Amino acid sequence: MKASSGETVVKELDERTVLRDPVQQFQAWYRDATGSTMIHPDAMTLATVSPDGKPSARIVLLKRAGEKGLVFFTNYESRKGNEIAGNSFAALLFYWGELERQVRVEGSLTRASAEESDEYFSSRPRESQIGAVTSPQSKVVTNRAELERMFAENERRFRDQPVPRPPNWGGYILKPARFEFWQGREARLHDRIEYIRENGGSWKIRRLAP
Ligand SMILES: Cc1cc2nc3c(=O)[nH]c(=O)nc-3n(C[C@H](O)[C@H](O)[C@H](O)COP(=O)(O)O)c2cc1C
Repeated sequence: MKASSGETVVKELDERTVLRDPVQQFQAWYRDATGSTMIHPDAMTLATVSPDGKPSARIVLLKRAGEKGLVFFTNYESRKGNEIAGNSFAALLFYWGELERQVRVEGSLTRASAEESDEYFSSRPRESQIGAVTSPQSKVVTNRAELERMFAENERRFRDQPVPRPPNWGGYILKPARFEFWQGREARLHDRIEYIRENGGSWKIRRLAP
């Protein structure tokens, strides 16, 4: 299969030839996904766990993936924010159907620095900034009119001035302890390559049965 960049995407994975650093392997697959025609290759399912051990999942957008981890932005007082405050372990899941690929990432979350959150917040369109200030994410609202009234009020409040980042909105960084790269193959003999971070920071790489 060819990505829209024209490069051929190799649809197989081998534990002997995958990149030794899973972050680099992720970046290579992410380049393939963003070079394809897929809608939202940056969409990932984030699973968190409540204090009584009940999981919940939702989509968030990946903003950065590097040595420090995978970054997304949200409301710290949302349902997910409250769950993360009680249990920092979380899982991320990408599904890139056109490429028959899935990537699972597990690890722990910490908040991004205020500087990084400010920088990203200030890069967002003004109406998204006002939306973030307005929305008490995950709380019950009476009706849509109530939300729109609060939005209009904030538009007036910040008229002709920059919208400051609300303190309850910012980034999280997931520091991975495990990655799994899944490549669909024929006859259900899919490739599954797991990376587990060992004490000392090196990665153990193994193939799993599909
Ligand atoms: C394509 C897509 C992208 C989304 N991106 C984000 C995001 O980056 N951050 C965010 O807080 N919510 C995002 N959402 C909304 C979340 O899925 C979710 O509704 C919201 O964060 C509240 O989740 P919670 O109540 O579990 O905290 C996105 C939803 C979709 C469908």
